[in-house]
Amino acid sequence: MATVDTFARPLRNLRISVTDRCNLRCSYCMPEENYVWLPRRDILDFEEIALLVDCFTEVGVDKVRITGGEPLLRQHLDRLVAMLAAKPAIRDLALTTNGILLTEQASRLAAAGLHRLTVSLDTLRADRFREITRRDALPSVLEGIAAADAAGFRPLKIDTVVMRGVNDDEIFDLIEFGKRYGAEVRFIEYMDVGGATRWSRERVVARDELIDVLRRRYGGVEPASKDPSAPADRFALPDGTAFGIIASTTQPFCSACDRARLTADGMWYLCLYARLGTDLRALLRGGAGREQIAERLRAIWGGRDDRGAERRLAEREREALLSPDQLRSDPHLEMHTRGG
Ligand code: GTP
Ligand code: 5AD
Ligand code: SF4
Repeated sequence: MATVDTFARPLRNLRISVTDRCNLRCSYCMPEENYVWLPRRDILDFEEIALLVDCFTEVGVDKVRITGGEPLLRQHLDRLVAMLAAKPAIRDLALTTNGILLTEQASRLAAAGLHRLTVSLDTLRADRFREITRRDALPSVLEGIAAADAAGFRPLKIDTVVMRGVNDDEIFDLIEFGKRYGAEVRFIEYMDVGGATRWSRERVVARDELIDVLRRRYGGVEPASKDPSAPADRFALPDGTAFGIIASTTQPFCSACDRARLTADGMWYLCLYARLGTDLRALLRGGAGREQIAERLRAIWGGRDDRGAERRLAEREREALLSPDQLRSDPHLEMHTRGG
């Protein structure tokens, strides 16, 4: 039975970060030189994650997405995928990756039962990729996308964070690239989440502007069907190509938000922007059973009134959400810890 919060939003969608580590340093997520990492002893093992997932499915979750950091850095991730894929309560099991390790892992993930894959890709130019991510890895990502396609992940989704003056001249190239793989490209507005210490309003390319640009180029942009709680608004070009826009910055979807996030060390957050979370690791390692944890989840979600992105939209002087010092004092505030 779905559990609803104070705005009648059900708890349905769980994003599980399996590691806070990443093999890229994207400027919109990890722009600093040094980071404070979660202590290793705190990282949940797969059995602990699976047990928590059972508690979540008991209170209504039926969509699970594995995220990071970069989830493919977690050793033997396909074992966790297989454990989750075996749970009938999970009707949708997806994973978001930067693609670097897909060449070696895509077929294993498919065999383990992963349903869907999203790959982050902000540019098709090697020199620009290096500037944005501080790593020289575009060829591995492109190879990884081909491997995912070959492993049968169709349609793939490609997530692109659009930043003015950085990659906003590649919109059409990315759409054309998506067509080659039958992949749905989703353009994401640059968000002022924790971790985005270089965020500024000027760098955000808003949904309406993107639609204008695409309409001028392709001659028409029609709304397409979408799941009401999904962050992406979907559109179709005249030739039928579908793409999405995630307008979390200028037109947030908080009113329909059914997602919760579990960090690699078992902290549970009700919102991307929340300052405080619930320590489920302490409960679990303290001996709490499935029913007891599920009861806590129900009670806490029942009191949820988060709508972080909408609140941010109402702020007039909008700058980066958090300073590097604040982020260092609690790494759970980082987007790469909380799950991108
Ligand atoms: P599906 O609809 O299941 O395919 O997943 P999704 O659309 O949630 O995809 P994904 O996990 O790739 O999320 C895409 C992007 O949307 C993220 O990288 C964020 O930029 C943004 N996003 C995801 N979750 C949230 C959220 O809870 N709140 C807000 N405001 N933005 C989010
Ligand atoms: N704005 C928007 N999306 C972000 N992500 C991380 N940081 C941001 C941000 N500041 C999301 C992107 C990226 C994924 C890893 O996390 O979708 O592709
Ligand atoms: Fe949900 Fe918070 Fe994101 Fe709004 S900002 S959509 S409430 S996670």
